[in-house]
Parts: sequence; structure tokens; C-alpha cells
Amino acid sequence: MSVNETERQLEYIELCKKEYQKACDAAGKRLSCHVVTFGCQMNARDSEKLAGILKEVGYELTEDENTADFVIFNTCTIRDNANQKLYGRLGSLYHRKKSNPDIKIALCGCMMQEPSVIELIRKKYKYVNLVFGTHNLFKFAELLYTMMESDSQIIDIWEKTDEIVEDLPVERKYSFKSGINIMYGCNNFCTYCIVPYVRGRERSREPKDIIREIEKLVADGVVEIMLLGQNVNSYGKNLENPVTFAELLQDIEKIEGLKRIRFMTSHPKDLSDELIETMKNSKKICKQLHLPIQSGSNEILKKMNRRYTKEHYLELVRKIKEAVPDIALTTDIIVGFPGETVEDVNETIDVVRKVGYDNAFTFIYSVRSGTPAGDMEQLDEAFVKEQFDRVLKAVQEEAAKKNGILSGKVEEVLVEDVNEHDSSMVTGRLSGGTVVHFPGGSELIGSFVNVRLNEAKGFYYLGERVD
Ligand code: SAH
Ligand code: SF4
Ligand code: F3S
Repeated sequence: MSVNETERQLEYIELCKKEYQKACDAAGKRLSCHVVTFGCQMNARDSEKLAGILKEVGYELTEDENTADFVIFNTCTIRDNANQKLYGRLGSLYHRKKSNPDIKIALCGCMMQEPSVIELIRKKYKYVNLVFGTHNLFKFAELLYTMMESDSQIIDIWEKTDEIVEDLPVERKYSFKSGINIMYGCNNFCTYCIVPYVRGRERSREPKDIIREIEKLVADGVVEIMLLGQNVNSYGKNLENPVTFAELLQDIEKIEGLKRIRFMTSHPKDLSDELIETMKNSKKICKQLHLPIQSGSNEILKKMNRRYTKEHYLELVRKIKEAVPDIALTTDIIVGFPGETVEDVNETIDVVRKVGYDNAFTFIYSVRSGTPAGDMEQLDEAFVKEQFDRVLKAVQEEAAKKNGILSGKVEEVLVEDVNEHDSSMVTGRLSGGTVVHFPGGSELIGSFVNVRLNEAKGFYYLGERVD
């Protein structure tokens, strides 16, 4: 089914090319397009898929939203502020479109899977040309063609899909590193979280398709990959021939030319000893693990439906640190979940202190309608803010202890970019993810360089090349 679907979409790309040319002739210029990405790495990867098709059609991809002839917002709805951001941006685009009606606007991504959002767009945002969701993103070429042909608002949202469509064009943001989806959706239904409702059930890609995609990327110059999934530790369980995530990693490790492997996100309930052993023995898996705790209180974890305890989590961390001693650990924390008390927050702070995270993303709980926690009695805002500040302080103190622990050492850096503020410097990352700046030119981008880490500056190092 999916091979046919790929062919269908490739045919639509050809049709779009003709329409695009007509539109350019009418406008007397080459039309440009800008993709705005909100949210997580999955969305970033989806945006690369959109950009791949747009480029193939002929669009000039631009970073400038204010001059683009076509703007696509790939949205996120994980917290309410993600939604508010979109409405703000749409409002400002409306003013441009009033003076230039030829400007096209499309909306896609997680927010579009919410019926209340679609209702609002139909009523208040009639000037948006095209709206689609997460399940039919692979149909983008077809939808683009429909939009080019039509003057009315096109809305196409699917409730779910079983399809995984492979091999459509992708435009990567970086030439030397890439995200790669190994699975889609989520089955965990943490009670605060909207992702299972907007991304659907868990579907793993076949290992052979993943390996083939990585091999192609490597042949194209990619040296670092980030394997993406909401819960990579449960990868492969629903395949016809089940495979574990650790087995997949072992196969990926064998790909010649690939140098670094990262992955996210790991759910603590499914992190296996086999995975820890694989990380220990690997030469390519980066010394970094993002392991969201959410809360350190067993009572709250239960209400969140996370299905692990504080003790289980700490034991996992102990095992990982033993197997990979210099691993960088990061986490996600939610403060203000319904019913959370000062004592519950103390438990979270206790975990922060015991683990000593390199960094932790701390979020204030945001009510998502339709989720079980959305119906629970919510806490007082001022109380939550106070608790949030307590957690943040602990997180910052622990992260500060990690600053500079590599000072004086020589470490391998993958160079990513010319330094934003000083063009005589380049910026790259260590295996653990820490940023390093050192003197060098753009010819180094995408290569590995040994750098002496001379000086620690908070979250980054200043260094010098030693080879
Ligand atoms: N699948 C990943 C998380 C993806 S969402 C996992 O389970 O680890 C990224 C982070 O957003 C979550 O880890 C959580 O900390 C946060 N988050 C999710 N829903 C939220 C909500 N309703 N309010 C505040 N933060 C939330
Ligand atoms: Fe959301 Fe939980 Fe799934 Fe992560 S595992 S995406 S937090 S439901
Ligand atoms: Fe947001 Fe969707 Fe990712 S809700 S965090 S973009 S999966």
C-alpha cells in the first residue's frame, strides 16, 4: 500500500510543478516559501519533509517569514502557550495578507488534530488556505495541488492512520546530521498529555526501512543521527517480527561511516538492561540520555499514569551511571500537576539532587482538554509558581556543578556552524551534547575535530584545536 502511495504523491509533485510555474509566471517572480516549526524534534523532522516536497515543486525556501509568498505553520499543542503562540503569529500574517491576497497560508501539525481548533479556524481564520493534520502529512503534495487549484479553504483532518509512507523527498536542515523517525504515535496515555490523542497509536517502522534510510543519509554526508520516537524503548514491540530497541541500535552501529547515534525520548518504564548493556558496549551511541522523570513523588507518578516509582527511576540511573560513567543525564519535570503538595515537590527536588542532572526542562503543568488530568481539580496558580521556582533553583544549582567538569580535557567535537557572534570561530557539540566554541572556519562544518576545552562558560566551553 505504501509504495503505491509514494508513487501517487510523486505524481502530485509533478502536477504541482506545473501549477507552481504558472503561478510564478503570473506573479513575474519565483515564489518563495517559509516553514515555521513549533514543538519537538518530531515536528522538526516533519517540517523537513514538507520542505523537501516544496523544494522539489520549485519553491525557493526562505528563512524570512515577512517576504515569503507561502507560509506553513507546523504546530504544537503540548502546552497552552504553544497554541497561543500560533494565534499571535497568524494575526500578524493576516495584516500582510490583507494588502497582498496572493499570499498563501497553511496550518498543520498536532494542534490541527483538535476539533475545537478546527472549529475556530473555520469561524475566525477563514483566510487560511490549507489545513491538514499529523496523520495525512504524507499527502502534502496532493493537498498542495488542491490548494493551488482552489480558491476556498481546504481542511483535511484524519482521525488516525495505519500507514507509514516511505521515500518521499526530504530537505535536511543540516548536511551532516539528521533526525530519523523510528516510530510514530504513543500508547502510554500519561494523564496530563495530549500527544496520544493528536499523534495516534504507536507504530514502529520496519528495521530494514530504518537502516536503508540511514545508509542513504550516510552516503549523503550524514555522520550523526537522532532516532526519534515518543518512547523509543518500546520500539519494535508491535512489529510482525518483534525487535527490541537495543537490537535496532546494534544493527545501526554496524553502518559504516556513521559516527554518532543519539535517540529520544526514553520512557523509564521501558528502559531495559539490554539497552544499558548496548550503550556500554557501543562506540557510536553518544554519552547522553534524556530520561524524563516528570515527578519524584510516587503518588503523583501514579496519578500521571507513568507506571514507575521514584525508587525504580533512581535504580535505573544508578545502573546507567555504572555502565557509562561519564554520561550526561537530562530530564523533563512537570510542576503543578493536580493535587501536588509541597511534600510531593520535595520528592522531585530530592531526585534532582540525587541524580545531579546536566540539565532539566522544567514545565508548569498546562491543562489539556480531553485528557484525564484536565478534569481533575486544578491547583492555585501562585502556589504552583512558587513550587516551580523551588524546582528550578535546584535544577540550576545541580547543572552548575556540572559546568567545567571537562575543563582542560581534549574531546572530540562535531562542528555544526560558524559562531553566530564571531565569524572567526566555529561551534560544535561534544558526545554528551555540550556546546563548544573554538577558532576555525566554515570548512570545518560537519567534521570531527579534537579540541582542548580551555574555559568553561556556564553551559558551554571555549577551546582550541589540537590536531
Ligand atoms: N514522550 C516523551 C515526552 C514528550 S512531551 C516522554 O514521555 O518522555 C515533552 C515534555 O512535555 C514531557 O516530558 C512533559 O514534561 C511535558 N509535558 C507534556 N504534557 C504537558 C502538560 N500538559 N503540561 C506541562 N508539560 C507537559
Ligand atoms: Fe505523552 Fe506520556 Fe506519550 Fe510521552 S509517553 S508522549 S508524556 S503520553
Ligand atoms: Fe508538540 Fe506534537 Fe511534539 S504536541 S511536543 S509537536 S508531538
